[in-house]
Amino acid sequence: MFILGIETSCDETASAVVKDGKEVLSNCIATQIDLHQAFGGVVPELACRRHVDVIVPVIEEALKHAKVTLDQLNLIAVTTTPGLVGALLIGINAAKALSLALDIPLIGINHVEAHLYAAMMSQEEEVRFPALGAVFSGGHTALALIKGYGNYQLISHTVDDAVGEAFDKVAKLMGIPYPGGPKIEELAKEGNPNAFPLKSGTVKGRALHFSFSGLKTAVLYALKGQDAAASLAERLTDSEKADMAASFQRAAFDDLVGKTLLAAKNYQCQTIVFGGGVTNSQTLRRQFSNEAPKEMRLLWPAPGLALDNAAMIAGLAYHQYKLSGEDNFLIEAKPTSYFSGS
Ligand code: KG4
Ligand code: ZN
Repeated sequence: MFILGIETSCDETASAVVKDGKEVLSNCIATQIDLHQAFGGVVPELACRRHVDVIVPVIEEALKHAKVTLDQLNLIAVTTTPGLVGALLIGINAAKALSLALDIPLIGINHVEAHLYAAMMSQEEEVRFPALGAVFSGGHTALALIKGYGNYQLISHTVDDAVGEAFDKVAKLMGIPYPGGPKIEELAKEGNPNAFPLKSGTVKGRALHFSFSGLKTAVLYALKGQDAAASLAERLTDSEKADMAASFQRAAFDDLVGKTLLAAKNYQCQTIVFGGGVTNSQTLRRQFSNEAPKEMRLLWPAPGLALDNAAMIAGLAYHQYKLSGEDNFLIEAKPTSYFSGS
């Protein structure tokens, strides 16, 4: 079964062709980093305009790379939730046009569920359920119990910033261009993780929930020190920047690792499935390997499948279509939601 995936929920215009849920024939991404860098974050209106400009060429490229023609496609899959509503609409309308013109079914996919599927499609072996799902991205931070493909129960989520968003905002405070995550990881290698006594937030009565806005503010005050008027970025020496990057990263990752391993224990999961851009961090992967019990299986997305992409959308669509037979031309953009039904 050849499935064309389309993803436009945020600042990447992506399209991919995946065969039978696993074999990635193409995975094309037009990144918009250059467009948003000057603003230190994604500007929704600019993202939408760029999606409109590049959506058709990106789909054409995905087909060309896969060596698949339009009439060979069996299903169109598109992200419908969560994301920027205007951005989602562009992908959805392109998908509807293709479904109508080719007279093939159309299926809407949840982006967060697809991030978790990215790690599952990266494995040789079948994933054993129940598994714990951990999504750490620029837009989302959540833990879920995965009982099977398409069967998720939300356990916890961030009550304010997503962890990747915190990386990007802290980077901006330090004068590091967007997206800050990879650059903070690089800088942190030279720094002392205990130079600043930072800690991630806790949520009263919700031991597994996340909160990163206080951590970001703590970085701001630690950087400002006594001289609130000074330009933060200019005042920092290179070694202070490295120490701050290392201390912030340690505080964020101690929190992710601690709460995720606690959830795996509480929900009796022997497998953790990771998804989202922050799981690109080799530092995070190492920390999980060091701290998880020996018997725990840690499933990470393969290269190219951690950040936003359409292969994960087309891959998950295979299972969702097999389970539900869904063909819904009336799919709509839904800006917020974590998992189907939540
Ligand atoms: O999954 P993704 O592409 O987009 C969303 O769905 O949000 O994730 C992008 C996020 C950005 O916030 C970026 O800073 C973060 O992933 N990121 C990282 C690293 N690589 C990407 N954060 C920490 N360390 C990294 N190495
Ligand atoms: Zn994402």
